[in-house]
Amino acid sequence: MTLFADREVGLPLAVLQPIGDHYARRELHVSAELGYSVIAMMGARPGTHIHDHDGAWCVEGVWRGRLAITQYEPRERDGDRTRWRFTRMGDIEAGPGTAGSLIPPHEYHAIRNPSSGDIAVSLHVYQRPPLRCHVFVPEEPSASDGWLRREERVLATDAGG
Ligand SMILES: [Fe+2]
Repeated sequence: MTLFADREVGLPLAVLQPIGDHYARRELHVSAELGYSVIAMMGARPGTHIHDHDGAWCVEGVWRGRLAITQYEPRERDGDRTRWRFTRMGDIEAGPGTAGSLIPPHEYHAIRNPSSGDIAVSLHVYQRPPLRCHVFVPEEPSASDGWLRREERVLATDAGG
């Protein structure tokens, strides 16, 4: 946690480069011995859907800029677990040097860069290299009953870490 706040610790300049309109993800390190993965992300607007980390723990810290994180807990899901509803548990806005953890089963969240002008870069230490996750997508943009459809996403990292 101390390293997140240490302004003397540098990151590759590539982590400051946005990639199109998606959340840029650059893997900086994988521990061959312990299996954890360190990924730098650059937040894009309007932000992520509610998503999980496929059951893996994660420690996240803001490196540059600010990030708004909203935590959710499952409230209801249908029999085959494809349709879910969530309760919004709380919002935080985190600045540089701020770190937190996501420990399953409390792993559902959405994240966005609240600034229209400033870049936001965060560092994520995952229990294992994140190869997939689940995102929860509104069934219809106009629907207001809160039901979201769970979709699996295969994750890849961007070049330039
Ligand atoms: Fe996440």
